[in-house]
Amino acid sequence: MENESTRILAEIIKKRRTRKPVQFSKDPPSIEIITSLIDIARHSPNHHRTEPARFYLLNQEKIEQLGKMFGETLEGNGDDSVRVEKGKRKAKEWGEAPGIILVTCHTDTSSDLVSKNPAVIEEDYATCSCICQNLLLLLESENIASKWSTGAVWKHPDFAEKLEIQNPSTERVVAIIFYGYSEQKVPSRNLTPLERHLNSY
Ligand SMILES: Cc1cc2nc3c(=O)[nH]c(=O)nc-3n(C[C@H](O)[C@H](O)[C@H](O)COP(=O)(O)O)c2cc1C
Repeated sequence: MENESTRILAEIIKKRRTRKPVQFSKDPPSIEIITSLIDIARHSPNHHRTEPARFYLLNQEKIEQLGKMFGETLEGNGDDSVRVEKGKRKAKEWGEAPGIILVTCHTDTSSDLVSKNPAVIEEDYATCSCICQNLLLLLESENIASKWSTGAVWKHPDFAEKLEIQNPSTERVVAIIFYGYSEQKVPSRNLTPLERHLNSY
């Protein structure tokens, strides 16, 4: 690769791997760093300039509440001992995470824009996904490990109220991003040979 910035970017993209939050160090990265990375990550392609991403940077109290709600969601009515066990394990795992950013996508489906362009719903979600990947790469470049989860904690009846979601009826969760310092080494991933997925004419 001739260009130095391409080489650096390629290295970060390939080096980023999902790391286990249970192995994260208990000391969280500073809020100032995380906030500035979120701000940079927002610079992603965005059709109609809707700026759909909303970020919830959780403190320790909210992290514990989120873990508890996820545990309860998994446990269900308590009839299934396997689910109950998993619920307890996940409540602890999530509740002890050093850092969590919740990313939601806000699209007002009753707006004129959406009624004229229904594709905005998917396009907004795509923008939020780009922002999440930007954020994971920025974290990686600061040697901060991460994991993107979509564990369905938002099914919990108290989710919107406890997390103080701004617009509960028009925001959907895109990512629950766990972050923290980690010693866990994960090799870069081998993908299917490109020839099988690339059609070039
Ligand atoms: C949209 C999305 C949702 C994900 N949800 C979960 C999840 O709920 N639980 C989980 O363990 N990992 C989740 N992951 C992480 C993937 O399992 C992980 O990215 C995949 O195994 C590839 O590993 P890598 O990130 O190390 O390349 C999610 C990733 C994405 C992009």
